[in-house]
Amino acid sequence: MSINNSEIAQLVQPDRVHKSIYTDPEIFALEMQRIYGQAWIYVGHESQVKKPGDYHTTRIGDQDVLMLRGSDGKVNVVYNRCPHKGAQLVPLGDGNVGKFLRCPYHAWTFKLDGSLLSVPLRGGMEGTAFNKDDPMFSMRPLARVDSYRGFVFASQSEGGPDLVTFLGGAAGSIDNLCDRSPEGEVEVVGGVFQVMQQSNWKVFYENLHDTMHAPITHESSFMAAREEAAERGEMPFELLIMDGNGEPYEFWEKLELCAYPYGHGYMEAIFDPTAATRDPVSRVHFESLAKVHGEEKAREILGMNRHNTVIYGSGSPHTVFQQFRVIRPIAPDRTLIEIQTFRLKGAPEAVFDRALTYTNLINSPSSNVMPDDVELYRRCQQGNLTAGGEWVSHHRYGGTDKQTPEGMVSTNGTSELPMRNQFAAWKQYMLTDWNQEKKHVA
Ligand code: FES
Ligand SMILES: [Fe+2]
Repeated sequence: MSINNSEIAQLVQPDRVHKSIYTDPEIFALEMQRIYGQAWIYVGHESQVKKPGDYHTTRIGDQDVLMLRGSDGKVNVVYNRCPHKGAQLVPLGDGNVGKFLRCPYHAWTFKLDGSLLSVPLRGGMEGTAFNKDDPMFSMRPLARVDSYRGFVFASQSEGGPDLVTFLGGAAGSIDNLCDRSPEGEVEVVGGVFQVMQQSNWKVFYENLHDTMHAPITHESSFMAAREEAAERGEMPFELLIMDGNGEPYEFWEKLELCAYPYGHGYMEAIFDPTAATRDPVSRVHFESLAKVHGEEKAREILGMNRHNTVIYGSGSPHTVFQQFRVIRPIAPDRTLIEIQTFRLKGAPEAVFDRALTYTNLINSPSSNVMPDDVELYRRCQQGNLTAGGEWVSHHRYGGTDKQTPEGMVSTNGTSELPMRNQFAAWKQYMLTDWNQEKKHVA
């Protein structure tokens, strides 16, 4: 690596960042080590591996990993590598391996926690350094694995904060997503959408709380929704969720943006929380919760009205419409998005249908809304490859951010506080070794 720490530190200033952090392959490689090699990263939800032998593959930074339900019911996360010749052990996707894993190359077998079970023709190993109990002959587990209300995270670092400390105020969004289920539990249902964006992963995180873009980037979809509603003489849910982006600046200015350590945060929701008990779907949802918790508590749960939450490095859970957009960096200019939709256990089916409608209309590859964002991310990537300037601006309401006991809060809903917070965290990840809890030596 030729870039040193003082140069990295220079790339992030309080109100601007250098464009190379989006485009430079060397910086991307360092991010894989210092962000994705350390932070707690969302692997998947426990409901994706219900039975022993079920697996779900994914990536933590540039590492292929799999989440696997053990015979003892525990969820394990191991690298997708056979310790013999290094073959990727299971194919990418979801499946069930049965009682044990068997490598398709030379048939070494492994227990469901990745430890070596047997090798064929074992006599051939006698007199060599092969030792079944030596970890080098087993699939390697991730350094730390933990689950928060069914959401499984892993860290490649032994050191650093525990998962709850790491999540901080963002844990409240996972709590609220689960609490919206009368049983307090959610499950991934209906497979996932995948979208490959031709842009750097950080651009998407910035956009999640970028209120200034909504009435501009999404003009075509909110205008179409308004025309359709005028023709029909009503604004059904399907149009309402597109119409929301067309609110005037004064609306966005009043929203609250919260920022937490490690780059996390959330944006206050853009839909009216009192609607929670007015439309028919919200009404039956409210009733199912009230039956279990009483009306006051049900109102409190549905009244927590967060739009996109950012869990930096992992993606964005949306509590009200029950989804998790998982963000996986692939290359400096490639980012894979996986959209999971959740069913709230015990809630009326209409609530899940509504979440699917939201995912389909707003975020899916065929939606009317998200492709406009994705095109703008691509343009940012392309523009930053030109010699047309060096810096990316995060000046809006700079210097006005208010400190709270948990983090920071914006003074105006159009503030670029979320971007400033994300990049302050980025700098900290990039300059700190969690195993040492001290600065990397340049
Ligand atoms: S590479 Fe897996 S058994 Fe040989
Ligand atoms: Fe957008």
